[in-house]
Amino acid sequence: MSVSAGMVPGRKSQVKVGSFGRFVLVSVIVTSLILLSVSLIRTNSASNYASESNESINGPIHSANFHNRRVKLPEQNVLSKSLEERNGLPPRNLDLYPSLPKDHVVIVLYVHNRPQYLKVVIDSLSRVEGINETLLIVSHDGYFKEMNKIVEGVKFCRVKQIFAPYSPHIFNDSFPGVSPEDCRDKDNASEKKCKGNPDQYGNHRSPKIVSLKHHWWWMMNTVWDGLDETKDLLGHILFIEEDHFIFPNAYRNLQLLIKLKPEKCSSCFAVNLAPWDVKSRGEGISQLVAERMGNVGYSFDRMVWKKIHNKAKGFCYFDEYNWDITMWSQVYPSFGSPVYTLRGPRSSAVHFGKCGLHQGQGDKDACLDDSSINIEVQNDDRVVNISPKWDVFFYDHQAGYKAGFKGWGGWGDERDHQLCLDFASMYHQSLPT
Ligand SMILES: *[C@@H]1O[C@H](CO)[C@@H](O)[C@H](O)[C@H]1NC(C)=O
Ligand SMILES: *[C@@H]1O[C@H](CO)[C@@H](O)[C@H](O)[C@H]1NC(C)=O
Ligand SMILES: *[C@@H]1O[C@H](CO)[C@@H](O)[C@H](O)[C@H]1NC(C)=O
Ligand SMILES: *[C@@H]1O[C@H](CO)[C@@H](O)[C@H](O)[C@H]1NC(C)=O
Repeated sequence: MSVSAGMVPGRKSQVKVGSFGRFVLVSVIVTSLILLSVSLIRTNSASNYASESNESINGPIHSANFHNRRVKLPEQNVLSKSLEERNGLPPRNLDLYPSLPKDHVVIVLYVHNRPQYLKVVIDSLSRVEGINETLLIVSHDGYFKEMNKIVEGVKFCRVKQIFAPYSPHIFNDSFPGVSPEDCRDKDNASEKKCKGNPDQYGNHRSPKIVSLKHHWWWMMNTVWDGLDETKDLLGHILFIEEDHFIFPNAYRNLQLLIKLKPEKCSSCFAVNLAPWDVKSRGEGISQLVAERMGNVGYSFDRMVWKKIHNKAKGFCYFDEYNWDITMWSQVYPSFGSPVYTLRGPRSSAVHFGKCGLHQGQGDKDACLDDSSINIEVQNDDRVVNISPKWDVFFYDHQAGYKAGFKGWGGWGDERDHQLCLDFASMYHQSLPT
């Protein structure tokens, strides 16, 4: 099979090996230096905002005001500005849940546009024991009415919505969306006089495909370092996606795993609700399990976020459009030690989606998943099913993406590299070198 990552929405597709221009890197560095010096001149106005009152007559403060003004993000349109302002609104349901326990674990659910899936996830969350003790943050890649409506209906906990204001989905004629002068597919930029840098396989960017990695990175930076609700948290945050079914015991298991981690697996970076192998529901043994960090129901604390953020350049320049494969192949290996996660022997979350994230409704290639989502919840999934007495089973030498993998491409355009770096410096004075 040899299809191009730039055209096919499926992931892990086989792609042809080509060459990748080093000039991309050089020109990005040069561009950043120029931008930095240009914007240093405009910094003065930024600091005035930080001391403003938290709630003015006109509404809550806007998170936008906290952006590091030295970062030159793309020009915004009306929709993207209004979404960014919404991100500063306080959570809903504060009246129903006026106080949260000290040890609550914030849950971040990141979504695109698969309402039929989101309903299932929200319904599963509503049955989670302890869910009313926490804040649920839903991060949207783009703005979709139906998705918004589903979340506005949530009454079972505090809930806050954030919308990626630079999602390619809300720019119809300019970057980060497609602009008329952009190269497409395998265009030769100098022959066609179009804009863009091809990936290592010769393909130009596809906004729908790069949107996932951008959204994930924007969300991570915003949740850890931007939002008033979370930017001072030191402890764990749980991350789930719009096609992850969450079992009733997930939250209590999570709290227990977080508590046990320092003692049971001091080398573990994270806690997971599901095995790395998304097809597995767990071993069912009477042991905790330490293995490679997976992408379903993962949770880590600020110390780990700082390590990830330190590798922003590795994340942003790596020619791979999947955030998780970027982490496995580029970011985690650069930590210098294996990145283990601790989990129970039986899943508390399961990935059920058949449609890829790129195939939301309303896209031309909409994915229709008619099969009713029928996940059986057994008695064991309703109560804490982890024991503090258990020892830990370590998986050594697991298969999967690792250092040396070159990436599936789809991430060669220097504008994407720059946007990604800009997200990393939105809330910081400077990026680590
Ligand atoms: C900011 O919020 C706190 C409570 O969260 C409130 O006591 C205080 O009066 C607010 N400050 C302003 C200037 O509105
Ligand atoms: C949370 O839900 C439990 C039942 O699962 C209930 O006993 C408790 O009162 C609720 N707490 C709040 C603050 O709503
Ligand atoms: C982009 O969206 C705006 C506002 O919705 C609309 O006025 C404009 O015609 C659109 N441009 C293109 C190229 O579709
Ligand atoms: C693009 O076209 C130019 C001029 O025809 C040629 O020199 C160059 O090798 C082409 N580049 C690629 C990557 O095919």
